[in-house]
Amino acid sequence: MISITNVTKAFNLGSVNEVRALNGVDLEVKDGDFITIIGSNGAGKSTFLNAIAGTFPLDSGRIVLEDQDVTKWPEYKRAALIGRVFQDPLLGTCAGATIEQNLAMAMKRGQRRTLGIGIRARDRAFFKEKLAVLGLGLEERLKTSTGLLSGGQRQALTMLMATLVRPRLLLLDEHTAALDPKTGSMILELTEELVRSQNLTALMVTHNMNQAITLGNRLIMFHRGRIVLDIAGEEKRNLKVDDLLRRFSELRGDEGVSDRMLLC
Ligand SMILES: Nc1ncnc2c1ncn2[C@@H]1O[C@H](COP(=O)(O)OP(=O)(O)O)[C@@H](O)[C@H]1O
Ligand SMILES: [Mg+2]
Repeated sequence: MISITNVTKAFNLGSVNEVRALNGVDLEVKDGDFITIIGSNGAGKSTFLNAIAGTFPLDSGRIVLEDQDVTKWPEYKRAALIGRVFQDPLLGTCAGATIEQNLAMAMKRGQRRTLGIGIRARDRAFFKEKLAVLGLGLEERLKTSTGLLSGGQRQALTMLMATLVRPRLLLLDEHTAALDPKTGSMILELTEELVRSQNLTALMVTHNMNQAITLGNRLIMFHRGRIVLDIAGEEKRNLKVDDLLRRFSELRGDEGVSDRMLLC
């Protein structure tokens, strides 16, 4: 269970560039919830995930992860509990290291980094088994430098790294948006498979409303730093893209930009 209470974050407070990115956000996430998150550009989606991951101190509010108040914990300490995948496939893996070295680093997530990573035969066997699930043949390329892999292969490896040690929470920030449609679908299928097989709790930001409707058991929409829609269960299963568009135009009033452009 994750409790996020009254979280507020502003950037450049008091200057002309002031942005109130999160305005008192509350969210209770149950174990095993897979929540999709939508909202227009600048709505506060990434800032929300960053707030949970501890990228910056909050202005106010509280974050409790499985009975531990992590509000004051630094990012590296929260990383022991949280797996993350970003939009850019280059961010998740270290290009200069081999596949097995990246996986060995992922095994140590949240622990203090030590110099040199000893990889034992049984680690290799474990890595091979996990890589085989991806169906990309990477299990035969343990010593290949990650920098030589395609974007899709790197993102698949990043998904594996984020879940290699079961995270208490998985944060996905538009993690298929930079990929071509076919590769994006492959990563989404992998996401569903990893979430299902490990019964993970996950928050997934997406610009794709079909994805947001199809995946997960709950959907939330951000608008101007607030959660303005929260739909779960049966209501979510019956949800259509047009319903979301309608809710979204009600919120936007006459701001004049095509909703479909912003959300699709
Ligand atoms: N580090 C930062 N410094 C200044 N402004 C930021 C920073 N991060 C985000 N913002 C601003 O906060 C608002 C919310 O951004 P973000 O959470 O990235 O939106 P989204 O992910 O929904 O597109 C935007 O106006 C953005 O420009
Ligand atoms: Mg974002």
